[in-house]
Amino acid sequence: MAIHGGHDKDPRYSHLTPVYATSTFVYDTAEQGMHRFSGKEDGYIYTRWSNPTTDEAMNKIAAMETFGLSDSAGNPLKATGYLQSSGMAAISSLFLSTLKKGDKILSHYSLYGGSQDFIDKLLPDLGIECIIDDLRDLNKAEEALKRDSGIKMVYIETPANPTLQCVDLEALTKLAKQYNKLVACDNTFATPYLQQPFGYGVDFIIHSTTKFLNGHGTAIGGVFLGLDIEFMATQARKTFRLLGGNSNPFDAYLLINGLKTLEVRMDRHCHNAMEVAGFLESHGAVSKVNYHGLTSHPDYAVAAKQMRHPGAMMSFELKGGLEAGTRMMNNLKMCTRTVSLGTCDTLLCHPASMTHYSVPKEKREQYGITDGLIRLSTGMENVQDIIRDLEQALR
Ligand SMILES: Cc1ncc(COP(=O)(O)O)c(C=O)c1O
Repeated sequence: MAIHGGHDKDPRYSHLTPVYATSTFVYDTAEQGMHRFSGKEDGYIYTRWSNPTTDEAMNKIAAMETFGLSDSAGNPLKATGYLQSSGMAAISSLFLSTLKKGDKILSHYSLYGGSQDFIDKLLPDLGIECIIDDLRDLNKAEEALKRDSGIKMVYIETPANPTLQCVDLEALTKLAKQYNKLVACDNTFATPYLQQPFGYGVDFIIHSTTKFLNGHGTAIGGVFLGLDIEFMATQARKTFRLLGGNSNPFDAYLLINGLKTLEVRMDRHCHNAMEVAGFLESHGAVSKVNYHGLTSHPDYAVAAKQMRHPGAMMSFELKGGLEAGTRMMNNLKMCTRTVSLGTCDTLLCHPASMTHYSVPKEKREQYGITDGLIRLSTGMENVQDIIRDLEQALR
């Protein structure tokens, strides 16, 4: 699916989908242009709206997110959506197409810093509030749903950045549906190879394609997908087109090529992550490892139920706290000190001062994003090289 899914035969017989580097598309006649605008005739109009290269990338991710899934009538599940300029653009399209003044979101601890900021700093000005609780506890989720009929959407990010907390996709979605709520999931950390939220009745999926989906750190991007084809073709499309947060053909081309190797890359990332997590857990300088592939992790069972493999992300704390963490990061010789994740090389960052810097300290602490936490995105290097570098950095 990752290799062939979403591909349309090129009319000029190009093997790979070309980079359609064009802002606009021409019409044979004025009438044809009119018909394309009115929807009487299919065809491309303007790249902010759609483009063959960006469409192929979106279709590929939609095909991967629905692979092997069927609807209640037994028909293959179909999703559609929009390729966006970033994960944040995808989140903007999601929120702004589904929510209006007076609506509320129910979400959980430890969201990506940008998502948390969007919820805290932009949505309240539009009259949209967010209730945050520890939704690993389903009783808390049910209490909130019972208490507040204004909740329109349950917003999930599992595994969550950077604590790797996991919520139960199946149970939480079932609960949300009992109360007639929309459910959206940020599937960036897992990728569709490891986890398929649509299989649990989730309505919308967003990704930062900047991460594992691109896989090489060559482009910022995002995707906004939905199962309700009618909604996606109307309200979602209006929002996407008017916000102008589309991706571009070149970034889409890079993404298409990255997607083709997702499965083999993830197998290597995941294998390495398990070894690295085991190494860190047994190291005397490390006080805590957040990796739900370890049986010591509180969300081990939930992750095992809904993910093919726990993935390649983890975070950890050192006994010496922030000071020891800073020293360790400065000692790295091969692994890279940077934000972002999902690239071929191993990346380490300090969430409290970097990705989650703008989340207030009290909230960070409540969500488990402590000052001493270091996040690690396991790369595809020889795993012994990664461990050797971490070992010498922890000396
Ligand atoms: C889980 C998650 N969601 C969304 C985003 C936002 O993506 P982008 O940086 O592509 O806008 C990020 C970025 O790190 C992320 O980690």
